[in-house]
Amino acid sequence: MSAPSDRPTEAPGDHVRIYEVGPRDGLQNEAQPLPLATKRRYIELLADAGLREIEATSFVAPSAIPQLADADELMRTLPRQDGVRYPVLVPNMRGLARAEAAGVDAIAVFTAATDAFTTRNIRMTIAESLDAFAPVLARAGELGWWRRGYVSTAFGCPYSGAVTPEAAVEVAVRLLELGLEEVCFGDTIGVGVPPQVRAITTRALDAGIPLDGIAFHFHDTRGTALANVSAAMSMGIRTFDASTGGTGGCPYAPGAAGNLATEDLVYFLDAIGLDHGADLEGVLRAARFIADALGKPLTTKVGQAGGWDPTTGAATGRA
Ligand code: COA
Ligand code: ZN
Repeated sequence: MSAPSDRPTEAPGDHVRIYEVGPRDGLQNEAQPLPLATKRRYIELLADAGLREIEATSFVAPSAIPQLADADELMRTLPRQDGVRYPVLVPNMRGLARAEAAGVDAIAVFTAATDAFTTRNIRMTIAESLDAFAPVLARAGELGWWRRGYVSTAFGCPYSGAVTPEAAVEVAVRLLELGLEEVCFGDTIGVGVPPQVRAITTRALDAGIPLDGIAFHFHDTRGTALANVSAAMSMGIRTFDASTGGTGGCPYAPGAAGNLATEDLVYFLDAIGLDHGADLEGVLRAARFIADALGKPLTTKVGQAGGWDPTTGAATGRA
C-alpha cells in the first residue's frame, strides 16, 4: 500500500499479528544501557517464542537515546531467524544509511499527532518530520524494504492535552502518501479508551486507509490497553504492538510507562481462540530474562500469574 485505497469488503481473519517492541520501546526507557550480548539474547528468545515481528533497536542520535547507541553493532551481529522481520526506528537519512550498512531491511519512521510532542521528541514539527521522512521512505522503497510509520500521541499528548481522531488520522494519511506498508497509531502515554479507538478506526477507514494497513500501539499506563485491543478487534484491526515483560515508554513523554505486555496479549488471544503464532511459555521465558537483566521484578499480570490450563485448572508457564 503506497497511498490510501478503497475500503476492503472482506471480513477480517482470525490471525492476529503481534508486533513486538520490547527491544526498542522497552529498552529505550531504561535508566542504564544493557550489554549488547543481553539485547541479542533477548531478541533471540523473542524469536524462539514464535514472535515474527520484532522491532529491534533505533538508528536515532545516540545523544537522544544512549540506551540504543549500539544499534549498528547489534544489527550487524544479530542472528536472524527465517520468517522473522526485525524493523528498526529511523528518523532521517543519516539513520537510513546506518541501517543499510548494518543489513536492515525493515524500518519505522515516527512522527506524532501534535507539534508539541514532535518538537520535543525529534526536534521537528509534524510538517518538518514529513519532509525529513520523504527521502527516507522513498529510498527504503527502492531497496524493497518494509516500511511502517508511527503516529505517536494519537490519543493524547503530555504537552498539549486532548487529541482528536481527525488530527491523528490527518497525519496518518500524509505519512501513507509518502509510501508505507502500515501506519501505527500510538497511545504514547496510555490515556486512550475504547470509544477513541473506534473513532480513530472509523475515521481512518473513511479516509481510505485499509484495515490491514492499520496497527495500534497501546501503553497500559492506566490499565486500558486490553480493552482498547478488544475495541480495535471488534472493528477488524488485527495488528497490535506489545512488549515482552511490559517494559517501555518514551523518555520524551513524561509519565509514559509500560507497553501492553506481550504475555498479557498472548494470554488474551489464546483464551478467545485467535491464532497469532507465539507461544506463551516462550514469551514468559523472555519476559523473565529481561526482567532479570534489568534487575527488576516481573510485574505484568500474566508474568506473575502465568497462563492457565483449562483441562487441569492449573497455572502454566511459571518459573
Ligand atoms: N544517527 C546518529 N547520529 C545522528 C542521527 C542519526 N540518525 N541524526 C542526527 N545525528 C547526530 C548529528 O550528527 C549530530 O551530532 P553532533 O552533535 O555530534 O554533531 C546530532 O545527532 C544532532 O543532529 P541534528 O541533525 O542537529 O539533529 P537534532 O538535534 O535536531 O535531533 C533527531 C533530531 C531526530 C536526530 C534526534 O532528536 C533524535 O534522534 N531523536 C530520537 C528520539 C527518540 O528516539 N525518541 C523515542 C522514540 S518515540
Ligand atoms: Zn510506545
